[in-house]
Amino acid sequence: MAFSPVFLDELNNRNPIEDVVGQYVALTRKGSNLFGLCPFHGEKTASFSVAPEKGIFYCFGCHKGGGVVNFIMEIENLSYPDAVRFLAKRAGLEVPEDDTNQSQYKKKERLWALNKEAARFFNDQLKTPAAAEARAYISQRGMTKATVTHFGLGFAPDSWSALMDAMTAKGFSKEELLEVGLVRKNQNKGTLYDYFRNRLMFPIIDVRGNVIGFGGRVMDASEPKYLNSPETTVFNKRRNLFAMNFVKKSKLDFIILTEGYMDTVTLHQYGFDCAVASLGTSLTQEHADLLSKYTNEVVLTYDGDAAGQNATQRAIPMLEKTGLRVKVLRMQGAKDPDEFLKKYGADRFRLLLEGSVNQAEYRLASLQMKFDLSNDEQKVEFAKQAADLISSFTTAVEREIYGARAAEMAGLSAEVMKIEVNKAYKRRLAISKKAQEKKDLEISQQRQPRSRQLRYDNIRSAMAEENLLRMLLRQPELFDRAKTLERETFSVPMFGRAFDALRRRWEDDLSVTPSVLSELLTPEEMAHLTSVLQKPDIPLTDEAFDDCVRIISEEYRRANISGTDDLKKMQENLRRKKGYGGK
Ligand code: UTP
Ligand code: MN
Repeated sequence: MAFSPVFLDELNNRNPIEDVVGQYVALTRKGSNLFGLCPFHGEKTASFSVAPEKGIFYCFGCHKGGGVVNFIMEIENLSYPDAVRFLAKRAGLEVPEDDTNQSQYKKKERLWALNKEAARFFNDQLKTPAAAEARAYISQRGMTKATVTHFGLGFAPDSWSALMDAMTAKGFSKEELLEVGLVRKNQNKGTLYDYFRNRLMFPIIDVRGNVIGFGGRVMDASEPKYLNSPETTVFNKRRNLFAMNFVKKSKLDFIILTEGYMDTVTLHQYGFDCAVASLGTSLTQEHADLLSKYTNEVVLTYDGDAAGQNATQRAIPMLEKTGLRVKVLRMQGAKDPDEFLKKYGADRFRLLLEGSVNQAEYRLASLQMKFDLSNDEQKVEFAKQAADLISSFTTAVEREIYGARAAEMAGLSAEVMKIEVNKAYKRRLAISKKAQEKKDLEISQQRQPRSRQLRYDNIRSAMAEENLLRMLLRQPELFDRAKTLERETFSVPMFGRAFDALRRRWEDDLSVTPSVLSELLTPEEMAHLTSVLQKPDIPLTDEAFDDCVRIISEEYRRANISGTDDLKKMQENLRRKKGYGGK
């Protein structure tokens, strides 16, 4: 859907990009730009920039960029129209809605409200006589009243329709109940029934405070132990973590990643308010990216069994990829943090945290477990793989220490192992040298946009188009000197469209800023345009501008005349147009 240019202008004015971004990222001023740590990728030095006058943001590290609407689309994971609505709400603006087209955002708001009402209902149920068993279970698991309140835990009564009745009485429809997965349909009879029955309920709340789903635990040994809300419009398991809403406020500078609801709840009760859990699924790259926005270090506390160890092995590279430091916690005498804390208390757990086996040691130990080292062949294979692993450690000291440790494990001499590690290390160096050469080559092609789809066919014209747009956005009066240019004259289609739209705004006396292009350009195009605009400023003179206009026109003429005769080409074009659009 399209919003009116006047409305979008007002939206941009009332949402200064530095204020909006400032709510997510701590920014410091350097010259006319503001800098901070990029919220879209893990980093330690600030390469994320905001240019208030241009109304744009751009990250020199991950190359995301755009106007204020693009920022909200990216960080809140919203579509374009929903991001506009989000900002309108922030600024107290009325959105001119298309009422035939009920908005996705409004619908989501209804579903969030429904989930919140349901959570309240479950929580209220805890006080009823029917919840005696649930209350007993809560105290048996050692959960305090404060914990129950903090997490908003609840009880789903043993009934096929108690929740459905209560929610429809509050004005929610059956369709909405089905849509959030609180109600299911019996396939044979077509009747509806409550999905969660006779279970202890854990509401799942996202970082914005919306209730997005539930986990429900049985209170005896029956199966399945936990039921979780299905994936819905508002519940994406790949992107959300249980208790992430609290972790935002934690003063601890690491995050503890657990396998389960109970582990997380217990950790919070014992003062570790930085614990989160994935939602009955394994960790995804999206989870890792989310975590890296809130911390620099993650401590993994998965179960000691084979499944938990596998999950740990899978999680490490995903977390490291975002720049996070990873520690692996290994417990003795308890299978998970919940059990450990109840058995040994918070102090012992803190000691465990401080001594977290570092991941080099952990990886070596888990490699060792894969081999039977009494068997010579396996010993050789272990030595090979261990050398390869150790060669990836960054410092010589680490390579020395763990080389000796691996030698000991395999019953080899430290010297032999050292030779193997050195060989592997040299191989690694050769590979990274090749990678560097490739990088150098890429730098020479750096004038090309990062996205393949946006490749420039005509570098000379494209450079002039870039400069022309940069100058126009700084000084829109220059449009008067660009009368000979048309959208088609541009060799880069997105620049042509941007030029056309901006000129129309200039003629209509509307503001000429890059942020108004968010509607016209795709997020990739927007990111590319902002990367162009964030290049160092060029001198702004009429002559420089006229040069750009001249080059663009020259290149256009050359591309269109070369070879065939002008008239023939035009006729050909006409014929083609008729062929396609003739109906
Ligand atoms: P666990 O069986 O380790 O559960 O499953 P837990 O959290 O320690 O729970 P308690 O201590 O037995 O009460 C770990 C996680 O796997 C998911 C849940 O997210 C659970 O927290 N799970 C487990 C399910 O989704 N369904 C199941 O049937 C079991
Ligand atoms: Mn448990």
